[in-house]
Amino acid sequence: ELFAPTRANARGWDLADARDRAEYEAARAPFRTATFTARPILADGPAPGGDPVAIVNPADPSDTVGSVHPATRSEVDRAVSAARPWDAPASERAATLARAAALYESEAGRLCALFAREAGKTPLDAIGDLREAVDFLHYYGAQASAVTTPPRGVFACISPWNFPLAIFTGQVAAALATGNAVLAKPADQTPLIAHAAVEILHRAGVPRDALQLLPGDGAVGAWLTADARVDGVAFTGSTATARKIQGAMARHLAPGAPLIAETGGLNAMIVDSTALPEQAVRDVLASAFQSAGQRCSALRCLYVQQDVFENFRAMLFGAMDELRLGDPWDIATDVGPAIDASAAEALRAYIDAARARGAVLKELPAPTQGHFVPPTVISVPGIAALEREVFGPVLHIATFRARDLPRVLEEINATGYGLTFGLHSRIDDRVHQVAAALRVGNLYVNRNQIGAVVGSQPFGGEGLSGTGPKAGGPHYLARFTTAPAARADD
Ligand code: NAD
Ligand code: ALA
Repeated sequence: ELFAPTRANARGWDLADARDRAEYEAARAPFRTATFTARPILADGPAPGGDPVAIVNPADPSDTVGSVHPATRSEVDRAVSAARPWDAPASERAATLARAAALYESEAGRLCALFAREAGKTPLDAIGDLREAVDFLHYYGAQASAVTTPPRGVFACISPWNFPLAIFTGQVAAALATGNAVLAKPADQTPLIAHAAVEILHRAGVPRDALQLLPGDGAVGAWLTADARVDGVAFTGSTATARKIQGAMARHLAPGAPLIAETGGLNAMIVDSTALPEQAVRDVLASAFQSAGQRCSALRCLYVQQDVFENFRAMLFGAMDELRLGDPWDIATDVGPAIDASAAEALRAYIDAARARGAVLKELPAPTQGHFVPPTVISVPGIAALEREVFGPVLHIATFRARDLPRVLEEINATGYGLTFGLHSRIDDRVHQVAAALRVGNLYVNRNQIGAVVGSQPFGGEGLSGTGPKAGGPHYLARFTTAPAARADD
C-alpha cells in the first residue's frame, strides 16, 4: 500500500543530546564565514546569469553570505528548449534520488550553515527542513515504480523561501521521480541553498537536461509560467502569486496543464476549558512562534474558552517571557529573524497599528540589529478581523463561550482558507463535532499544528490554501503524470 511509510524518517540530530549537539556544531563550523555563489545551472553547465545581487544574513547585516546571478530571459529560454524528460527506469530514478538523499545528509553541515545564514532558521528548524527534504527524496522515489502513467513532460517548480530545501526538493523530487524534466525556480531570498541542492542532485546522477536551476525573482517565474512549452507547474507560495500563475497559465498553457498550488493559510486553534493548560500553552508557543511564525501552517488566531482565559493568558505570557530571540546560528535560540527588511517592516507596521488602537496584549523585546520582529499577541473579536495572512510571529487571540462554538466554526470556515487547525479538548464528542464541521487540510488534536511528517501526515489545504493533492501523501505523484486529476482532498 502506497500510504504505508516506506522507511523510517530521516533521523537528523537530537539537540538535547550532547554528542549529537557536538556533531552538529562541528559539521557547520567550517561554513560559519564561508561565502557562496548561485547562478543558473543549465543543461550544458553553469551560465553567467545577470548582475550579482548580495545575499545578506537576515539576523546580521554585517554577514554577507554570498551572491546570486539571476537567470536572464535568454537563459530561461535556453533552459526550456534544452529540457528533456528523464527517460530512465523508475527503479534507476529512485536509486538516484536515494543517493541524493544520502549526499544531503553527508553535506548537512554546509546546508545547515546556509539555513541559518541565508534563511534565518534556528537549528531546530534547520534540522526539520533537512530531514523533510531527505524524506521527500526517499518517499517519492519509492513510489515511482508504482506509477504507471507517463510523465507530463516539462515541469516548472516554483518554491518559497520559508522551506528553502524541503519544499524546493519536494517539488523537484516528485517531478523527477515521475520522469519529468524540471525547471527549478527557487525563492528570490534563498538561491544559495537551492544551488547547493541542484549540485548535489546532479552529482547523484540526475541528468543535467532533466534538472536545470533558474534563480531569480518573480519575473523568472512569470517567464516560465507564460511559456507554452512548459507542461505543468508546481507552485508553493502565497495565494496572491498562485492567482497570477493561474491567470498566466490560462492564457498560454494547454487546457488541462496541471497547476499544483500550495498556498497560504489563516489558521486557527481552539482551546476549551477541558484542555490541559501546560500542554496547550506549549503547543500554542510552537504553533505561533517557532520559525518566527513564518510557516504556512502557523497558528494565526487562537480561541480560548472564556472561563479559563485569565489563567491561560497568564501561563502563555509567562511562557513567552522564556523565549530566546536572537542569532539563528545559536543552538539556544528559539525565535530567529523575519526573512528580510521588507517583511520585517510590514510586520512592525502591522503591530504598530494594533498598538495604536490598544489591541496589543503582549510583546517581547527584540534585538535592534537584523530583521527581528518581537513575538506579539494581539486581541481580536475573532478570525474575521484578520484581513490577510500575517506571516510572522504575531498571534491573534479571541475568547468564546461554549454555546458559541458553532458560530466560531462557521467564522473559521468563512475565511475561505483551509490549511491547518488545532484543537485542545478532552471531550471526544467535541473533537468529532469540530472535525466534521471544519473544512481544513490538516487538523491536529491535542498537539501543535506545525511540522507535518512526510509519509504519515500528508500536508496541504483546500479553498484558498491550495489545489491538492497533499504533499508527502500517496496521491501527490499522480498530478505530475498524465493520469486524470485526483480529488483535492486526497
Ligand atoms: P511568494 O508567493 O511571494 O513567492 C513564491 C515564489 O513565487 C517565489 O519563488 C517567487 O519568486 C515566485 N513568484 C513571485 N511572483 C511570481 C509570478 N508572477 N509568477 C511566477 N512566480 C512568481 O511567497 P513567499 O513569500 O516566498 O512564501 C510565503 C508564502 O508561501 C506564504 O503565503 C505561505 O503561507 C506560503 N507557503 C505555503 C505552503 C504550503 O504548503 N501551503 C508552504 C510554505 C509557504
Ligand atoms: N509542512 C510544513 C508544516 O507542516 C509547512 O509546518
